[in-house]
Amino acid sequence: MKIKKICCIGAGYVGGPTMSVIADKNPGIQVTVVDINEARIKAWNSENLDELPVYEPGLSEVVARARGRNLFFSTEIEKNIDEAEMIFISVNTPTKTYGKGKNMAADLKYVELCARQIANVATSDKIVVEKSTLPVRTAQAIKTILDQTGNGVKFQILSNPEFLAEGTAIQDLEQADRVLIGGEQSAEGKQAIQALVDIYAAWLPQENILTTNVWSSELSKLTANAFLAQRVSSINAISELCEATGADVSEVAKAIGMDSRIGPKFLKASVGFGGSCFQKDILNLVYIAKSLGLDNVADYWEQVIIMNDHQKRRFAENIVSTLFNTVSGKKIAFLGWAFKKDTNDTRESAAIYVADLLLEEQAEIQVYDPKVKPHQIYTDLNALNTRTEEENKAQLQVVNNPYEACKDAHAIAVLTEWDEFTTYDWKRIYDTMKKPAFVFDGRKILKEEELKAIGFEYYAIGKA
Ligand code: NAD
Ligand code: UGA
Repeated sequence: MKIKKICCIGAGYVGGPTMSVIADKNPGIQVTVVDINEARIKAWNSENLDELPVYEPGLSEVVARARGRNLFFSTEIEKNIDEAEMIFISVNTPTKTYGKGKNMAADLKYVELCARQIANVATSDKIVVEKSTLPVRTAQAIKTILDQTGNGVKFQILSNPEFLAEGTAIQDLEQADRVLIGGEQSAEGKQAIQALVDIYAAWLPQENILTTNVWSSELSKLTANAFLAQRVSSINAISELCEATGADVSEVAKAIGMDSRIGPKFLKASVGFGGSCFQKDILNLVYIAKSLGLDNVADYWEQVIIMNDHQKRRFAENIVSTLFNTVSGKKIAFLGWAFKKDTNDTRESAAIYVADLLLEEQAEIQVYDPKVKPHQIYTDLNALNTRTEEENKAQLQVVNNPYEACKDAHAIAVLTEWDEFTTYDWKRIYDTMKKPAFVFDGRKILKEEELKAIGFEYYAIGKA
């Protein structure tokens, strides 16, 4: 079966870049990304490619090549669902904030809405692809909803989780380590799997396209994120031990990473992992294990989150204790608000929690981030409901210049590893700060010797 039209529901950080690359590599397939968020679709269609709703290196070039040719962004959801032979569900699956499983389970209401909408409008057979990250066995629920249509339309459900990381999405898509496709092991299921394999085979070697049963595919996605986050929490746990013993976490990471069984990646100690997925997916895994009565499994994975919360808190507490046990009325400059470099995404960014803890201590914060807009920073902070919007606005300012952010500051906290931070004129910054001038490098990216020579009191994660 050769697919000619694809519809993707959800034009977010996954749907947008993923479909752009699929369209770029498959000029013969018409790909339409739909969303209920009109502003987002408008931004995807904006002439000025700097205004795309997602910032990703290389994305605007891909969009420029494919948009209007075989890549479209639209709010006409029903029409595009009906016309497509293959529909990707790429909507958000956040942690539930209410009811059973509150603060742990994945909220599947958006996914269920998509399934119901597909069931309502479909007049021809469809392959429905789970692109969103979902709890194991969700495909069963989607199938049950779709099969209720009673109009003879047949559906095949595939699980095709996305492994891209923000900031490197285009590279991750174009040179994927692997693509995972889970499907029913029947003749129809295998045909559907093959249809999706053919789309990826347009640019990826066959051996990188892995096919499994649906449940293995769904569970592999949660497992992959749990393993990745676990590495960060493991090295962050060691970072605290390094600070207490005189070991240097970068040296330890290098030493262990050269063991090919461990490997060098994902061993950077930090102020704590953020992002929209690690925490939510592990909480989801913990919830699934608990629901199945597997308490030891649940406790094991929950520790990854507990360690991460500890890392964020201790970074903030270290700032307070180093600044002579009070930051009240002191200005602290934040370099970075995004959860990692090369993205404008701030979801679950460590910066939000560190700021919140310091604001509780009555600090005044000045934030500079090269890609995050001021309203996003206030939205993130207000969402915590720790204090009123007016109080947040009074205590935290967002500026569009790093030198201004650091002027008159008692301390600088580096929260994101943006490359440009290493290129600043640090002597100029030092001269404008209150003395002693402190730097708390939550990403270990600045040059310690250089900063100390200028006169800074420099503290980095994982180094005494
Ligand atoms: P997102 O919030 O950026 O985008 C989701 C989009 O879906 C939003 O624009 C929203 O308006 C739209 N939407 C929701 N319900 C809809 C409906 N019924 N009809 C039409 N549009 C609807 O989310 P995201 O970061 O793209 O993540 C999507 C999924 O992919 C999640 O399950 C996530 O876990 C997974 N994932 C994310 C990443 C990542 O790096 N962000 C990577 C891999 C997997
Ligand atoms: C992560 C995974 O890497 C992707 O494979 C996955 O598809 C995605 O989650 C998802 O499911 O959403 P992402 O969250 O975009 O991608 O970014 P990562 O590069 O994984 O970074 C996550 C967080 O961990 C960031 O805050 C980053 O700064 C932190 N991190 C990462 C460290 O602190 N140290 C490291 O060594 C690596």
